[in-house]
Amino acid sequence: MKFIIYGVRKDEEGYAQNWSKENNVSVKLVTDLLNKKTVKLAKGYDAIIAYQQLPYDKEIFTSMKEYGIKDLSIRNVGVDNIPTDVAKANGVRITNVPSYSPNAIAELAITGLMQLLRRTPEFNEKMAKGDLTWEPDIAHELHTMTVGVVGTGRIGRAGINIYRGFGAKVLGYDIFRNPDLDAQGIYVDSADELFAKSDIITLHAPATKENYHMINKDSIAKMKDGVYIINTARGDLVNSKDLLAGYKSGKVAGAVLDVYENEVGIFNNDFTGKQIPDPTLRELMAQRDILVTPHVAFYTRPAVRNMVDVALNSAKDMVEKGESQNEVKF
Ligand code: COI
Repeated sequence: MKFIIYGVRKDEEGYAQNWSKENNVSVKLVTDLLNKKTVKLAKGYDAIIAYQQLPYDKEIFTSMKEYGIKDLSIRNVGVDNIPTDVAKANGVRITNVPSYSPNAIAELAITGLMQLLRRTPEFNEKMAKGDLTWEPDIAHELHTMTVGVVGTGRIGRAGINIYRGFGAKVLGYDIFRNPDLDAQGIYVDSADELFAKSDIITLHAPATKENYHMINKDSIAKMKDGVYIINTARGDLVNSKDLLAGYKSGKVAGAVLDVYENEVGIFNNDFTGKQIPDPTLRELMAQRDILVTPHVAFYTRPAVRNMVDVALNSAKDMVEKGESQNEVKF
């Protein structure tokens, strides 16, 4: 059995090499991303392992069919950049890593939130100028607040556990209710109800056609004054310009954004000494209480290790047994 793994970063190399030794499966590591040109490197391999945020070219799947490769194993969760109809039409099966580390994502969300609630960006700014005073603002305590969790899958649930550890009241909204959480009575009946009742709104839903820009000027108007908004899920959930307007008006007290709707081609690039080529992102980043990070919630040692190991295991299962618990059904 021979696999090829595309877009390998330095921090992933050791995990892939160890897996290859432990499983006695040859794994070719390449740094190129998978696209219509680089797919030719996969000729002769039994499965492709990939991760990228750029859209997967349709031609990848026609070439895979031509080379007799049936399996694409992605080492992340989201499949929103894969033309799944084309994959299916060319007999390509897809596996993902649905749960590499829900805590990695939930912890980053809460890290940003605590910075905002305890005003550390404000103190950093003031202290850099030599101003060591306390005022004008005064901090919040999370246990006095209500956190509205949109999306109660694995990541949302990891967040709920952490928020509860802080003593906060938690509300949930999801089109698919988790039976345990339902029995605890955390669900509200609509996103609007959650918006109206929450001091903090944290998004943990996949991007779909239905929830595109669910945070927009109308939904922000329904929220409490001084609301905090957290998005570590998908950029498309938030209308960034409306969020900025809400922040500038004072309606939104702050935001934590690890994702941005136009991040592809911008995040994970070094613009030192150059202008970031997106004015809205630049403006978001310039606001003291909008904390932007470049889609790094997943970027922890345990998560990256799981991404590599689970993706390789799934590819092996697909090739050997024709099935994997991580196969994405369309
Ligand atoms: C995903 O797993 O879909 C993510 O969003 C994380 C990715 C940047 C590796």
